[in-house]
Amino acid sequence: MTQPFHHTPVLLGESLRALDLRSGGAYLDGTVGGGGHSLGILQALQGQCALTCLDRDQEALEAARARLARYPQVRFVHGNFHQAQALLPGQRFDGILLDLGVSSHQLDQPHRGFSYHEEAPLDMRMDQEGGPTAADWLNTAPEGEIAGALRDYADERWAVRIARIILEMRAQRPLETTQDLVRAVDRAIPRAVRRREEGHPARRTFQAVRIAVNDEIAPLRAALTGLLGMLTPGGRLVVITFHSIEDRVVKRAFNSFRNPCVCPVDAPLCVCGRQPLASLPRGYPVSPGEEELRTNPRARSARLRVAQKL
Ligand SMILES: C[S@@+](CC[C@H](N)C(=O)[O-])C[C@H]1O[C@@H](n2cnc3c(N)ncnc32)[C@H](O)[C@@H]1O
Repeated sequence: MTQPFHHTPVLLGESLRALDLRSGGAYLDGTVGGGGHSLGILQALQGQCALTCLDRDQEALEAARARLARYPQVRFVHGNFHQAQALLPGQRFDGILLDLGVSSHQLDQPHRGFSYHEEAPLDMRMDQEGGPTAADWLNTAPEGEIAGALRDYADERWAVRIARIILEMRAQRPLETTQDLVRAVDRAIPRAVRRREEGHPARRTFQAVRIAVNDEIAPLRAALTGLLGMLTPGGRLVVITFHSIEDRVVKRAFNSFRNPCVCPVDAPLCVCGRQPLASLPRGYPVSPGEEELRTNPRARSARLRVAQKL
């Protein structure tokens, strides 16, 4: 059953400041979710802007469409921001916002399979219209690929054991539900460790599987380069991340926009001739303050970075 959309926008005031909003500007919210940040943009500019809202999740897009219905200038596009240039050919924006990861709504919808608390089909796709589900991936991927994802996307120390147990389980019968995956984690992590740890033992595994199934990391850097290319000069690309792997990709991409030189570090002069594409405004990255963390614990690991196109 689909429930009403609830998601508290993270770092809202900071995002609006970072976008350096201007009346009459054109903006892209590349991860509109429930429309919290988009609504903030529209309210801050009293509707005096063009806003394009993108999400790969149709349910999110419908929720945002309903929430922003009183702003006829908003355009909604279903798709992946990794393909923004193809989805929005020739379009230019004065600011682009990405608030990465999943929404609270997606996590709280049992039928989506993102939550280890609920028994549900092992799906976890943000875009339900295509691509392999978590069950498809876990039932076919090689052991090393699963272990690698658990290690790289969630720092899971028991990655190898969890992957091995998944392969043992699927040799008996395919994994089908979220609780099949929870059982694999329970079997792999010793009981004493599970008791000692804070939080649910399957939390990291679910995060890693979600990132793998939705291919969230590998195309991110190229996507950021493409989005920078869609900005008008002086336009800003604002990205909120929720874990260190994602943040590292954004940080490295932004640093390379500021300094794309590929000459050896000991070269006396730059001979590659690559010119900076962006500056990095002072005062960033920013993280949520205590006040926001009190009311929205989900914001705990959020980090916001900004690049400004030259
Ligand atoms: C953290 S939520 C955004 C919440 C939103 N800022 C708000 O205030 O309601 C992230 C959203 O981004 C979407 N998303 C994640 N990766 C995406 C991608 N590569 N392309 C398009 N949408 C994506 C998810 O489906 C989800 O709805």
